[in-house]
Amino acid sequence: MMKATTRSLVIGAAMALVVAGLTGCSNGASTGGGSGSGGSADSAKIGLLLPDSVTARFASADRPLFTKRIKAKCPDCTVLYQNAGGDASKQQQQAQAMLTQGVNVLVLDAFDGEAAASIVTLAKAKNVPVISYDRLINSDGLSAYISFDNQKVGQLQATALTERLKQLGVADDAGILEINGSPTDNNAGQFKSGAQSVLSKSSYKVLGEYDTPGWDPAKAQSWAAGQISKVGVTNVKGIYAANDDTAGGVIAAMRAAGATTIPPITGQDATLAGLQRILQGSQYMTVYKAFKPEAQGAADLALQLAAGKKPTTNATVKTAGGASVPSVILTPVAVTADQIQGTVVKDGLFTASQICTSALQAACTKYGIK
Ligand code: GAL
Repeated sequence: MMKATTRSLVIGAAMALVVAGLTGCSNGASTGGGSGSGGSADSAKIGLLLPDSVTARFASADRPLFTKRIKAKCPDCTVLYQNAGGDASKQQQQAQAMLTQGVNVLVLDAFDGEAAASIVTLAKAKNVPVISYDRLINSDGLSAYISFDNQKVGQLQATALTERLKQLGVADDAGILEINGSPTDNNAGQFKSGAQSVLSKSSYKVLGEYDTPGWDPAKAQSWAAGQISKVGVTNVKGIYAANDDTAGGVIAAMRAAGATTIPPITGQDATLAGLQRILQGSQYMTVYKAFKPEAQGAADLALQLAAGKKPTTNATVKTAGGASVPSVILTPVAVTADQIQGTVVKDGLFTASQICTSALQAACTKYGIK
């Protein structure tokens, strides 16, 4: 199990300023980034490597938002894309192939934050800067990192859960299940430590906890099914799930065990399915991490690095190995039914018509989703 990365955060300029201030490609400057294809930053090749295909956000948000931003700011730049499908060695091969194809910058969302350090070493040897995207890689060779305050994600989830249990009058010593993210994902360790900082101070009892390999919802579901049959479905009074996709798996396990109402359960990523479950009442909350500023911010950082410029950042983050990485850190937001309109709909992540199926019309009216 990977050591949770400690981070010292120094937040400088307001994020809005940082995002607005990030610039695109330079005017004909030679590529300061990778030695790969050389040439001009105006026609840079940028590699985007994402970690898995079981998580909704990567295909629905990160990849299209990133590519669109690069194309808007640098029409002659190329984005090379690969998804590791939850396999660290496949990600390594994909990165190597991109370096051979002469990428000028790598934007890497690591499946395994320790193993990916060797990708950074390879890239550095070719003078190709690497941006650690969303998940911190434990390497001293990173050029930049962009993510959210991940400790806070866990705190928001666990606080929402414990407050909801109190609000519902659930007994102080009631049992909860804790489903964490992937042991190879640095973020998962941070979500977990944020959550545990809250849960450990509460009176609720963690009946069992699980680190979900590769964030695989099917694995979360089968672990939960085993726990539910061990402790009894009626004794599960609350569920901490680290993201919406694993929450979906655990809800399925609860239903299969005969639960008619689902106890409060958390999530993350504001997926369409997660938001619909919140309106339907089977999921209590999600954490909205605005993917747009993250993906666009990464694109802007990549273009700056391709042009040989210093990346515009608002924080410094320390890796587990003690390296200081110039970083952009964004703020996550807790979302229950009341906040869907003011967050994801307002930001255009999903429209009301995407969320509000005919079965959800009444809930959408109730919560002002339009
Ligand atoms: C995390 C990411 C989350 C979620 C999760 C599942 O690293 O920050 O937003 O997508 O991975 O893969």
